[in-house]
Amino acid sequence: MCLPSGHTPNPIFARMGKSVASGELSFRDAEIFALDEYGGLPADDEGRCANMLNRCLLKHIDLRRENFHPIDSVAADVQKVCKNYDRALDERPFDLTLLGIGLNGHLGMNEPGSAIDSTTRHVDLAPSTVSSSAKYLTHSNLPTWGIAVGLKHLLGSKEVWLLANGQNKAEIIYRASKGKVGPDVPASLLRDHPNSFFIVDAEAGAKL
Ligand code: PGA
Repeated sequence: MCLPSGHTPNPIFARMGKSVASGELSFRDAEIFALDEYGGLPADDEGRCANMLNRCLLKHIDLRRENFHPIDSVAADVQKVCKNYDRALDERPFDLTLLGIGLNGHLGMNEPGSAIDSTTRHVDLAPSTVSSSAKYLTHSNLPTWGIAVGLKHLLGSKEVWLLANGQNKAEIIYRASKGKVGPDVPASLLRDHPNSFFIVDAEAGAKL
């Protein structure tokens, strides 16, 4: 599966951890790919996506370490990292992709305008994504770029759950669900996916 970091998935991750602890659920045979990663942050920065995933999920489940695939944005050759990541994704589609949604409708770091056949790549972050990153960081050196799994592999996932909480997501959930389907609001593209679900709380769904 492909999993996001950020604040939205944390309640689900906490439930996953509890289910593993109680023996209801196991990740022994699972494989997890990170959805995206910030560039320009040191490997141990707690705001890096892989580190958030580690803190909020991986430490609490029984996934084999070698079955977690972070995106190495600290590597000297980022293009090679992207190519290798895509090679693994081309072999098998994701069974399940979990996504949050950005205030501008981005999916992972696929900002508005991203091509539907885009692959894993270096991306420049939209201004609202740069500002939002501050909530994960303990310093003001905000990332301006990242590496994103492309829309090709997200839209090629067998099943997709888009999650949204809180009133600040109400407008974009409205636009993604009721507005025009197209790359201006990447999340709207999920409406053409045969097995995708928008899972929103009452506040995020207030305009529907
Ligand atoms: P959030 O981020 O879950 O922290 O709101 C979502 C996103 O920007 O994609």
